[in-house]
Amino acid sequence: MTDPLIRWRERAGDAVLLDGFHALKHALRFGAEVPVAVTTDRKATLALADELAGDLADTLDALLTEVPATAYATLVPRPHPTGVAALAVRPARETNLRALARTPRTAPVVVLDEPRNLGNAGAVIRLAAGFGATGVVTTGTLDPWHPTVVRGGAGLHFATAVERLGVDELPAGPLFALDPEGEDIRGTVLPDDAVLAFGSERSGLSAALRARADHLLALPMRPQVSSYNLATSVAMTLYHWSAFGGAAPAES
Ligand SMILES: C[S@@+](CC[C@H](N)C(=O)[O-])C[C@H]1O[C@@H](n2cnc3c(N)ncnc32)[C@H](O)[C@@H]1O
Repeated sequence: MTDPLIRWRERAGDAVLLDGFHALKHALRFGAEVPVAVTTDRKATLALADELAGDLADTLDALLTEVPATAYATLVPRPHPTGVAALAVRPARETNLRALARTPRTAPVVVLDEPRNLGNAGAVIRLAAGFGATGVVTTGTLDPWHPTVVRGGAGLHFATAVERLGVDELPAGPLFALDPEGEDIRGTVLPDDAVLAFGSERSGLSAALRARADHLLALPMRPQVSSYNLATSVAMTLYHWSAFGGAAPAES
């Protein structure tokens, strides 16, 4: 077998860095192809796997190679407390576009319209994975596969379709845009084929997104509070869909 560090350097250019045990665990659970995974302490990592991810114990046993801590430190920008890192193959754009376009849709697509904060984007991908959303689409310049976003997503980019698209390329389906000036969300049932759009941290929804929206919805806030954080807004909206929505998708 090739030295894991050589394999790492061969694949690092176009692969996704999985930083830490939990990111690797999540990525494997959701079908990521992982060509190389390293740990600074194989025995401790396999013990952690037995404790937290018995379903992956054999896979991790076969995959993980121990490397010295000094070598590990050259592979990751910031050493992770678990001493684990891996590379995963990024899903093809075409695969994600097919997942986003598939009908009938059984869970909403989340759109972040020109987001700025990489940590927010990662948190939203983690939320979307947790709620089983069809995907997370970003518009604008932020790369939703940026390493900081992947770190924030805890390996869950592989559990939902993550892509960057133009507003004119958004998946079909009724578009519900979230805005503090909209109608109270509590009066609306969100269907499974909904496209749920959220504005940027600084300036809210863009003019292009507003023009494409079918409905503007507001999350309840007491007077004098101007807005919620982006990721918490997505959390409340997905919860609203999961608890009170789920109407049959429109005929395609
Ligand atoms: C931090 S807020 C943006 C605040 C921005 N100054 C504005 O004018 O909307 C980011 C996004 O979270 C969502 N959001 C925040 N609070 C909301 C609320 N009370 N109702 C609906 N959406 C909200 C919206 O999509 C908003 O564009």
